[in-house]
Amino acid sequence: MGHPLLEVKQVKKHFPVKGTIPFVPSRQSVKAVDNVNFHVMPGETLGIVGESGCGKSTLARLINRLISPTEGEMNFKNKDLVSLSKRDLRTVRKNIQMVFQDPYASLDPRKRVGQLIEEPLVIHGVGDSVSRKRRVAELLEIVGLNPRYQNRYAHEFSGGQRQRINIARALTLNPELIICDEPVSALDVSVQAQVINLLKDLQKQFQLTYIFISHDLNVVRYMCDRIAVMYLGKIVEIGSYEEIYHSPKHPYTQALLSAIPVESPYENKERIILTGNVPSPIAPPPGCAFHERCPFVMDKCKTETPPLIETTEAHRASCHLIKKEEE
Ligand SMILES: Nc1ncnc2c1ncn2[C@@H]1O[C@H](COP(=O)(O)OP(=O)(O)OP(=O)(O)O)[C@@H](O)[C@H]1O
Ligand SMILES: [Mg+2]
Repeated sequence: MGHPLLEVKQVKKHFPVKGTIPFVPSRQSVKAVDNVNFHVMPGETLGIVGESGCGKSTLARLINRLISPTEGEMNFKNKDLVSLSKRDLRTVRKNIQMVFQDPYASLDPRKRVGQLIEEPLVIHGVGDSVSRKRRVAELLEIVGLNPRYQNRYAHEFSGGQRQRINIARALTLNPELIICDEPVSALDVSVQAQVINLLKDLQKQFQLTYIFISHDLNVVRYMCDRIAVMYLGKIVEIGSYEEIYHSPKHPYTQALLSAIPVESPYENKERIILTGNVPSPIAPPPGCAFHERCPFVMDKCKTETPPLIETTEAHRASCHLIKKEEE
């Protein structure tokens, strides 16, 4: 086994909450990402799934260093992402790109497509105007768009085409890691499949590594080698695609999987319906953060936070039930 491309160790991001009394800082904070550990190997796709507000986008922004962690360590190709100087950060940023969820909001409506794709090259001072134009035409072709579209504006394209433009922009500087934050959630199902296939083809062609964020386990299964399930700022289960889909250990993962529609009317699947709301990340419940919604809750869950326990090699889940199984 080689060396991980990215290592995230005990990373926390706590956002301070504004107090109710003016000029008096509040002691509370939103624990958007709370003690997260994982690694990504070169060439693989790690999926990150979880309900809205569980901290997926915050984690993406931390890795891309759009924001700084409150605590923790992040290494990219053995370089410490947290303590990098501004100059080194610029170089690393070329290598870590993002594709965002909303293809309508993420493209500047005043710029032509050619300018949008060329922009990262201009910012990083790569090549001259002629070579940059050539690269833009090449990139449009790579993502399946006609190079003659360069002079059009983003609003002249469909959602799927706009996401292709975003992908072309992300590829401009030949990155090794692309973080896709819900890249197909705003698209309709047939277009989702096309964009997913494009991402898969590009991965093969350019040996890309992906972090693929989604709230939809159905989408993730076509993309990912490994999957991390997040709940209220923490990873509650992480493992290979097969382990997560065929033997999920955490009751939350089981509930998420049970919500995937069946593929055949003859398939018999029991739907686990979670009751209650997602608790507030400002004051997460004591013990296991999932205990208030867990169908298997025990007394211990209300007071003791379960650690991530290795169930089989490279499959870990944080649930007191796992310990019980072993005993
Ligand atoms: N800049 C910020 N200041 C304060 N709180 C924030 C900030 N950014 C995110 N949060 C809070 O952090 C938590 C996690 O947000 P995040 O956007 O990471 O969730 P998410 O999993 O990406 O959700 P979604 O699926 O809806 O995109 C939320 O409770 C959110 O309100
Ligand atoms: Mg998000």
